[in-house]
Amino acid sequence: MKYHIVTYGCQMNVHESEKIAGILREKGYTEESDIDSADIIVFNTCCIRENAENHAFGNIGALKQRKRENKDLIIAVGGCMAQEEGKAALIKERFPFVDILFGTHNLSELGALIDRKKSQKKRVFSLKEAREETEDGITPVRTGYPGAWVNIMYGCNNFCSYCIVPYVRGRERSRRAEDIVREVESLAKEGYKEITLLGQNVNSYRGEDGTDFPALLDRCASVEGDFRLRFMTSHPKDFSAALVSVIKKHKKICNQIHLPVQSGSNRILSLMNRRYTREKYLEEIALLRREIPDCAVTTDIIVGFPTETEEEFQETLSLVNEADFSSAFMFIYSPRTGTKAAAMEGQIEASVSKDRLSRLIEAVNARTREKSAAYIGKTAEILCEGYDEKKNLYLGRDEYGRMGYFASGKNRIGEFVSLRIDRANGISLFGEPIGE
Ligand code: SAH
Ligand code: SF4
Ligand code: F3S
Repeated sequence: MKYHIVTYGCQMNVHESEKIAGILREKGYTEESDIDSADIIVFNTCCIRENAENHAFGNIGALKQRKRENKDLIIAVGGCMAQEEGKAALIKERFPFVDILFGTHNLSELGALIDRKKSQKKRVFSLKEAREETEDGITPVRTGYPGAWVNIMYGCNNFCSYCIVPYVRGRERSRRAEDIVREVESLAKEGYKEITLLGQNVNSYRGEDGTDFPALLDRCASVEGDFRLRFMTSHPKDFSAALVSVIKKHKKICNQIHLPVQSGSNRILSLMNRRYTREKYLEEIALLRREIPDCAVTTDIIVGFPTETEEEFQETLSLVNEADFSSAFMFIYSPRTGTKAAAMEGQIEASVSKDRLSRLIEAVNARTREKSAAYIGKTAEILCEGYDEKKNLYLGRDEYGRMGYFASGKNRIGEFVSLRIDRANGISLFGEPIGE
C-alpha cells in the first residue's frame, strides 16, 4: 500500500505533511512519488489566496476518473481549506469522490479516519472546532534533510484584516519550551544541519514558565552540535531589542530575519490592523543593522489592498529602497471571505494591482541583483542541501538565505561548503568550492 501527499502553502503545511507521512507510515503505507500509482492520496491544502485554492480544486477534480476506475483508491483532503468556513461543504458537494475530509485541528486523527473509511465504506469527515493540546505524539517523516522544521507554536491571534489564518488555524498555542529544546537536541544528534523554528508569529511565543521567544531561541542556540538555526515568522509589532541581542550572541543563529512589512503606507498598515507604523518598522531595521551590520532582512508585501492609492503604493516602493531588503515575497491582495478587508469598500481593480506588482518586483529585484553582484570575488559559506538535475550542479544557501550553485565530484549534501563566487545571475550565485 502506497501513499502520495500533495502539499500547498507555507512551511507549516510542509512540516504537517511530514506528520501526515508519519501517520501513514505507522499504518504500513510506503511513499510513492507517482500520484497515479498511489493507493491513498492526501491533499494538504492552503487558502491564503484564491489561487492557492484554485490549484487544489483543479488537482482534486482531476482525480474523478481515476476514482471511477479504482474504487479502492482513498482520497483525503486536509489542511487550511478544509477548515475554512463553507469550504468543507463545497468540497463535499463538488467532489463526491473525496473519501476523507479533515481539518487543521484533526490531523492526528487521520489514522483512525482511514480505518473508519475502510470499515464503513462511507465518506468520513472530521472538522473539530479547536484543539488545545500542543503535543500530537506523531513522529514526522522528515523530508528536508539537511534541514528540519520544529513547530514552536500553532495558530494566530493577530487578525490582520486581510488574513484567513486566524480563522483556519485557531488561537495561539505555544508548545512547552522543554519539549522544543529536546526536539532540537535530538535533531542535532541525528545530524540535521539547519533547524527552523516555526510559528505564525514566533515573537508572541509564551512557554510553560513564561519563557518568551528570545529566551527560547537562546536555549535552542545553546544546544550542542554543528547546525544553524532559523526561525519564522516574526511580526514587526513584537520585534524586540532582546531578540536582536540573542541573534547577535549566537553564531549558530543565521544573520537573517524574515520580517513581513506588507505595506509602506501608515494608512494602509492601520487598515490592515498590523499595529506598527512605517517609522517603527524602519527603526527596528536600523537597530538590527546597528547591532548586526551584515544581517539580511527579507519580507512579505501585499499590493492592491482595498483603497490603496498610487501615492500609497509609492510609499511601499520607497520603503523597499530604505529598508534594503535582500528579497521579498510579493502578492496581489486576494479577498478572503469572512475577513474584514473582504467587506471593505474600494477593492482595487486587477489590472491596477498587476501593474503595481510588476513595478514592485522590478524594485525588489534591482536590489537583489545588486547584492548578488557584490558577492563576486568573495566567499560564501553555504549549506549544501540538494542537487539541481537541470543545472547539473549542487546547491545550497548561505546564512543570509542566498542560493549558491557549484559543481563537485562527490556528494556534498549536508556539508557546509565554502564557495568562491565567480558569477551571479539574479538571485543565484555560482562558484567553486574552495579546497576541492
Ligand atoms: N504569519 C505570517 C504570514 C503568514 S501568510 C506573518 O504574519 O508574517 C504569508 C503572507 O501571505 C503574509 O505575510 C502576507 O503577505 C500574505 N497574505 C496573507 N493573506 C493574504 C491575502 N488575503 N492576499 C494576499 N496576500 C496575503
Ligand atoms: Fe495572518 Fe497576520 Fe496572523 Fe500573519 S500575523 S498569520 S498575516 S493574521
Ligand atoms: Fe496557507 Fe494555511 Fe499556511 S492558509 S499559508 S497553509 S497556515
